[in-house]
Amino acid sequence: MKICDVVIIGAGAAGMMCAIEAGKRKRKVVLVDHSHKIGRKILISGGGRCNFTNINTCPESFVSKNPHFCKSALARYTPHDFIELVKGHGIKFHEKKLGQLFCDNSAHEIVDLLVGECHKLGISFQLGCQTEAIEKNDNFTIKTNKENFACESLVIGTGGLSIPQVGASSYGYEIAKQFNLSIIEPSPALDGFNLKATELNYFKNLAGVSVDTVVTCNNVAFRENILFTHNGLSGPASLQASLYWEKSMPITINLLPDIDPSMFLSQMRRDKPRTEVKNILCEVLPKRFAEEFCQYYSFNGNLSEMSEKGLGQIAQTLKAWQIFPESTVGYKKAEVTKGGVDTAELSSRSMEVKKINGLYFVGEVVDVTGQLGGYNFQWAWSSGFAAGQYV
Ligand code: FDA
Repeated sequence: MKICDVVIIGAGAAGMMCAIEAGKRKRKVVLVDHSHKIGRKILISGGGRCNFTNINTCPESFVSKNPHFCKSALARYTPHDFIELVKGHGIKFHEKKLGQLFCDNSAHEIVDLLVGECHKLGISFQLGCQTEAIEKNDNFTIKTNKENFACESLVIGTGGLSIPQVGASSYGYEIAKQFNLSIIEPSPALDGFNLKATELNYFKNLAGVSVDTVVTCNNVAFRENILFTHNGLSGPASLQASLYWEKSMPITINLLPDIDPSMFLSQMRRDKPRTEVKNILCEVLPKRFAEEFCQYYSFNGNLSEMSEKGLGQIAQTLKAWQIFPESTVGYKKAEVTKGGVDTAELSSRSMEVKKINGLYFVGEVVDVTGQLGGYNFQWAWSSGFAAGQYV
């Protein structure tokens, strides 16, 4: 039995940040991970360049049953704190768009930073290690396939269910259940949408086409691209909308966010009355999309042949194209898992379970989910930091 102060299950973003902070407080920490490779999700993030934070981070960038829960941790460890750490390691980075910071070179640099800090502080890693049982008496006993640990503080940073191929598991939720903690039903988010067969028959032909839009779901709007796929919709605007989407809800797409479609169509009817609607729409939308869209809605004929009402219908559809997706694509593609350990069970200051001394949950396993754009890593850093001050 190895005696230590803190065992952290999950050597991902939040787990390593927590380890570093606890290590600075001279706590004896062991990071346990079932994977043989450290930080696999960090390595695949941001297309291999890791969008490690967002300078516009604010509580409104997150979804949770309790939208106030994230405030304390985000205020105590901000994007600027992580940026200072990144700068301190000489990692070059840039803002891609909308406050999203990416490494210039590789996500490996972020993993190296975290692992380097852990090594400096004497934190040990136990990799390829399956946890078999956890017991709580005065302290925690953790039985694994490698060695057993006894510790005062146990931190669960096992992440969500997205991308099982890189080690995602439901283990964090199982531990929560073992200790009778309530869980907000997990579901895939920051994910594409599968369309219903009627729409898919038309729009699957557009796989690869992207359109600049404003997508609104559940009263939250995003100005970004949608991308058509073989199953339906992807692209940043769809991914963002998926965070707010629930079964049977519509998403509404403004296909011409920079122009008033009614004015545009009326003007075109005056200027080019003999032109077909689809050819007019090709002037402001990708050609393949305009053609398929007009075919789907039977928007046929020359502009001069259109009634005022017909033109109004086209304008309305362009401004607020309503789609009822069949589902999201699922955990194989989703960037995050929405839901998780109910924040009502945790202290927002320390991430400690209110009714169980010494048990902490950090990162994505908690019911705090960020929008696309570096927010989820910021939550991992902030929640890991918060727990690291107390474990
Ligand atoms: P994380 O998933 O990082 O770590 C969990 C750790 O627990 C893993 O090491 C895993 O092996 C381990 N584990 C799981 N089960 C275990 C068990 N039973 N026993 C032991 N160990 C176990 N976010 C962002 O802000 N910017 C971005 O650019 C991206 N990009 C991105 C791309 C893709 C493809 C995905 C899938 C996700 C992103 N994300 C992202 C989301 C981001 O990666 C995610 O929110 C954080 O990694 C969450 O950090 P955690 O430490 O909570 O979990």
